[in-house]
Amino acid sequence: MINEKLAKAINEQINKELYSEYLYLSMQAWFANESLDGMASWMNAQAQEEHFHAMKFFNYLVERGARVILKTIEQPTVDFESPLQIFKMSLEHEQFVTKSINELMDLAIKVNDHATRSFLQWYVDEQVEEEASVDKIVNMLQRIGDHGHGIMMIDRDLGSRTFTPPAEEE
Ligand code: FEO
Repeated sequence: MINEKLAKAINEQINKELYSEYLYLSMQAWFANESLDGMASWMNAQAQEEHFHAMKFFNYLVERGARVILKTIEQPTVDFESPLQIFKMSLEHEQFVTKSINELMDLAIKVNDHATRSFLQWYVDEQVEEEASVDKIVNMLQRIGDHGHGIMMIDRDLGSRTFTPPAEEE
């Protein structure tokens, strides 16, 4: 049986991952309305990835005999200004998630739960990738500019992203 405090913290993390999915869907909607279809598609792949993150935690709790308690998902912002502002917000959000994953790891270490430490290592590594990919887009937008011809090039480039659940990659 998993430590009660740790199970509670993982339930809170499920909520954060589902909120992330919601936030990226809200960003997708903004891009779709702006006819930036590549960026809308990138956000959809990101939202699917967040759903996968949530369900991975969900299944882990079930596997460890703990209850999954779903809470209300906060409404994400709908007022965005520009592609650059959105990707900067995404980066800040991912930094917040990284901090949260690190705190979960600290707790797993504190309560000596080796199985959860091993499980969480996947998320620790995943967050490095998550932050790096968004940081790259922020840099591109800052260099090329987030309007005119440059934005159309970046939009086309980002539209090629798809999400494949890791288990299917093996
Ligand atoms: Fe689930 Fe983007 O971290």
